[in-house]
Amino acid sequence: MNSVEDIRKMAVIGSGVMGHGIAEVYTLNGYPTSMMDVKDEYLDRGMRQIRAELKTLVSNEFVTEGQSEEALNRISTTTSIKDAVEGCNFVTEAVTEELKLKRGIFAELEKFTTDDSILATNTSGLMITKIAQGLKRPDRVIGTHFSVPPHIIPGVEIIRGKRTSDRTFKIAYELMKKIGKVPFVVKKEIDGFLLNRLQLALGREAFYLVEKGVATIEDVDICLNSVLGLRWATVGPFRQMDSAGIDTATKVWRYILPSISNSRRIPKAMLEKVAKGDVGMKARKGFYDYTRFGLEDVTVERDNGFVKTLKLMKTLWK
Ligand SMILES: NC(=O)c1ccc[n+]([C@@H]2O[C@H](COP(=O)([O-])OP(=O)(O)OC[C@H]3O[C@@H](n4cnc5c(N)ncnc54)[C@H](O)[C@@H]3O)[C@@H](O)[C@H]2O)c1
Repeated sequence: MNSVEDIRKMAVIGSGVMGHGIAEVYTLNGYPTSMMDVKDEYLDRGMRQIRAELKTLVSNEFVTEGQSEEALNRISTTTSIKDAVEGCNFVTEAVTEELKLKRGIFAELEKFTTDDSILATNTSGLMITKIAQGLKRPDRVIGTHFSVPPHIIPGVEIIRGKRTSDRTFKIAYELMKKIGKVPFVVKKEIDGFLLNRLQLALGREAFYLVEKGVATIEDVDICLNSVLGLRWATVGPFRQMDSAGIDTATKVWRYILPSISNSRRIPKAMLEKVAKGDVGMKARKGFYDYTRFGLEDVTVERDNGFVKTLKLMKTLWK
């Protein structure tokens, strides 16, 4: 396989929050796609979410009813990794974020795919080089990091491992453009890459402010939605500083910076939620309560919000 045009068939390993959405993106773009997980019930859950999400895309006129039906016809599910990847030349791994588990999956992928297939991981921030360690062909491993919900969020982070080849990089990059995503590149591998380092820096401060009683969870969310969300959809931190004035920013940074959280511990509130099993939308309880809704309804409500914002962003980018 020498070009993006040679990709014929996709496989996605894992059908959870990310896996089902990535499979949905590929099938919507015309690729026969096979989705794999360890249990049929997980695959059924993934397919239910795909159906619900496609309905939202149809009702918001992102795709037609016919395209949605065709996408559903192109997707298949299996609990066998061998069956999932056979005949596929681009595989995306989206299983639980554990290095050992991912390494095991990649060893299997190496066994069951042809030599020139590309093996991508959706890891949030594990080093690609570590995931590919021990493989005969680490040159064909790359990070293609989608964001939740993958069928809507445009940006995809592309991460090269130390041994990722130029061919692998070029094909993965071109693929993201071909499926209508906006790729951005991590030049030098680092834990958490670009996106999650930025997100965590902000998230740490958000938890710190709530812990200190400075603001409620709701108001921290509103602050980001109503100010930074719109700002960052238009300008990044560097353009923003140009528009605010670097001299003024220097004055402000000087007195605020010393009081910004530099904690290296997971916030207590997160650990408490995990211990209780209140792990968020997928459990219908997290920092907010979703118990009144089924999982698909929660997803539809979330997606309607994202779709409205995406429509606005598309007009801003023109
Ligand atoms: N949730 C997010 O917002 C997000 C965003 C970007 C990247 N990621 C990354 O994407 C990956 C998947 O995250 P998620 O949020 O979808 O997790 P998830 O827990 O929702 O889903 C993981 C899925 O992997 C399956 N799985 C576990 N072992 C498996 C195996 N041996 N074979 C096949 N499937 C297996 C699980 O059954 C589960 O369905 C992780 O690496 C995560 O860090 C997550």
